[in-house]
Amino acid sequence: MSATSSTLAIPDASEVPRHLAIIMDGNGRWATARFLPRTAGHVRGVRAVRRIVEACGRRGVEYLTLFAFSSENWRRPPEEVSLLMRLFMQTLEREIVRLEAQGVRLRIVGDLSAFDPSLQRLIREAEERTAHNSSLNLTIAANYGGRWDVLQAMRHLLAEHPEFATNPEALNEAALTKYLSMAFAPEPDLFIRTGGEQRISNFLIWQLAYTELYFTGLYWPDFGAKEIDAAFRWYKERERRFGRTSAQLAAQEK
Ligand code: IPE
Ligand code: IPE
Ligand code: MG
Repeated sequence: MSATSSTLAIPDASEVPRHLAIIMDGNGRWATARFLPRTAGHVRGVRAVRRIVEACGRRGVEYLTLFAFSSENWRRPPEEVSLLMRLFMQTLEREIVRLEAQGVRLRIVGDLSAFDPSLQRLIREAEERTAHNSSLNLTIAANYGGRWDVLQAMRHLLAEHPEFATNPEALNEAALTKYLSMAFAPEPDLFIRTGGEQRISNFLIWQLAYTELYFTGLYWPDFGAKEIDAAFRWYKERERRFGRTSAQLAAQEK
C-alpha cells in the first residue's frame, strides 16, 4: 500500500523524494518588485508550475502536490480571488491535453463545494480524463486547509462508522488517515516553500509530521528545474531518523 504512515512504520529511503509537496509562494511580491499588478505574478506562476511538473516527471517523483489556494485565501480582495479562479479554470482547460499526454494523473483536493459549478465540472472532467495515467500523480490543493482535512476525515469516519462514537478507544491513526484527502499518497518526503516565509500556512498539517522542510527566498515565478535540483541535493543530505539515533541508522546500512 502506498499510503504508509511515518509514525506507524519507517518509510523506505529514496534519493529523490517519492512525494514532494510545495507551497508556491511569492507571486505577488515577484510582480510588485517589477511594478506589475499582483495578478501578473500569478500568471507567471502558472509557467513555473508547468516547469516543475515536467522537471519532477523527469526526475522520477511519483507524487507532486501543489498548494494553489488555501481556505484562508478567500480573505484576499475579491478581484484577486476572482482572477485566481479564472486562471485556475483557464489553466485546467489549456493544460489537460498536455498532462494527459505526459502520463500525469491529476487530482484536486480541498473543499470543492465552494467553487462555481462550472469549475467543479471542469475539475471532475480533468480528473476523469487523466485517471488512467500513473507516471506522475499531480495533486492541486485548492480551497484546501489542513484543519479542514482532518475535520472532514473525522466527519466521514463517524458517518460510516458510528460505532467509534461509543467506543473511541478503537479509533486509531490508520482508521482516520483513510479518510484524509491525500489517503492515496504516501506522506510527503520533502516540502518546499518559496517566497521566504518559514511557515506551513495550514497546508498538509497531519501528513507533514516527518517531512523534510526546505525554505527558499526565491519567488515562485523564478523557481525552475535548477532550483528543484538544489532542493533535491539538500534532501539527499538529510538523515531521516524517524525517532531513531544516528548510530542505529549507521548499523542498519552495514
Ligand atoms: C502565492 O503567491 C499564490 C497564492 C497564494 C494564490 P502570493 O499571492 O501569496 O504572493 P505573495 O506572498 O503575496 O508575494
Ligand atoms: C499559502 O500562501 C497558500 C498558497 C500558496 C496557496 P499564502 O501567501 O496565502 O500564505 P500566508 O498567508 O503568507 O501564510
Ligand atoms: Mg503569499
